[in-house]
Amino acid sequence: MASRGDQPVIPNVHIQAMPPWSPPPGPEPSDPESDSARPPRRMNLNESPYPPSPRAIEAMREACGTVNRYPDAHWRALTRALSARTGVPDARIVVGNGSDELIASATRVTLTPGDEVIAPAPSFGSFAKGTAIQGAKLVSVPVRGDGACDPEAMLAAVTDRTRLMFLATPNNPTGGMLAAREIQDVARHLPDTVLLVLDEAYHEFAMHAGGEDPLPVMRERAGPWAIFRSFSKAYGLAGVRVGYLLCGSEAVAGGFQVARNAFTVNAIAQAGALAALEDEAHMRDIVAKMAAERDRLADGLRGLGLVPMPSVGNFVSTATSRPAGEIIAGLRERGILISGIPAPGYENHIRLTVGLPEDTDAALAALAGLLE
Ligand SMILES: Cc1ncc(COP(=O)(O)O)c(C=O)c1O
Repeated sequence: MASRGDQPVIPNVHIQAMPPWSPPPGPEPSDPESDSARPPRRMNLNESPYPPSPRAIEAMREACGTVNRYPDAHWRALTRALSARTGVPDARIVVGNGSDELIASATRVTLTPGDEVIAPAPSFGSFAKGTAIQGAKLVSVPVRGDGACDPEAMLAAVTDRTRLMFLATPNNPTGGMLAAREIQDVARHLPDTVLLVLDEAYHEFAMHAGGEDPLPVMRERAGPWAIFRSFSKAYGLAGVRVGYLLCGSEAVAGGFQVARNAFTVNAIAQAGALAALEDEAHMRDIVAKMAAERDRLADGLRGLGLVPMPSVGNFVSTATSRPAGEIIAGLRERGILISGIPAPGYENHIRLTVGLPEDTDAALAALAGLLE
């Protein structure tokens, strides 16, 4: 990292040690002079291709009229609604600017340099990033063959330096989910000195696939825990950034409260999330559409001779016969954005987010050409 004489520009040694970072690439801003009218097909960020509930859009429009005021710093209407939905008391619910922000907070509230964090590999990149910023050590535990976290191996990796464990179900990018009894095993056996984070960004997809709600078994845990959920996926609100925590105790919620900024979720986002939550029928409808399209995409990949991982999320990952970078670049040239899996051993894997039916058709046709 650059320095001025002996003085590093960025004095934090943990940040200095990290490789350069930038957010995932999105489409280039559209060029008004260009004749290519079609924006790229966004199959790279696990977004919903469907807009949110019309009720959420209306609520957000209405909220625009009062943005001269700060938002409710306690997100009261939203936590009340989430409490009614989950049975977790309001005082144990913390809302954030996307669950990504809350993942960063989880590392801030638990870790000091030299501590250890256990996370599945491959998984969501923010687990590793937050860990590195705190100067802690990431202990990566490979996922099982079914693409789910490996609870037994993760428990076996615990040492007396472990302070945080990330379990993700369904896991992104491998798509596998855990049974409630497997989560229960971790909840029971993980030492009380470790915060157990259950990342359920794709919770509604797991429920649609017949999964069991893990909340009852998490409640059996005596030690600290928090479930992380998101409005970005099933509720189609990725652009306004709302995620939330269901915490095992007020003490855990209190740690996250101390770590947060005062007005972390804007008023438009709070209004949209509340209205989206109240339109459960819309959410279920778009989850059902995305799940059906995911299965059609996986079938199409099998038709190309690939072996996609069995995913219950809104994405499908697969190994290919070519380096992922070549496939990603080839699809980008054809106006289709997908992602790779930046983890050792996955250099020839790609991940496709479920889009509209025409996106599936376009991606399969382009892949057929690239894999010939
Ligand atoms: C496993 C997992 N956790 C968390 C997130 C972050 O979601 P958001 O910050 O949009 O709530 C994602 C997003 O892709 C994810 O895949």
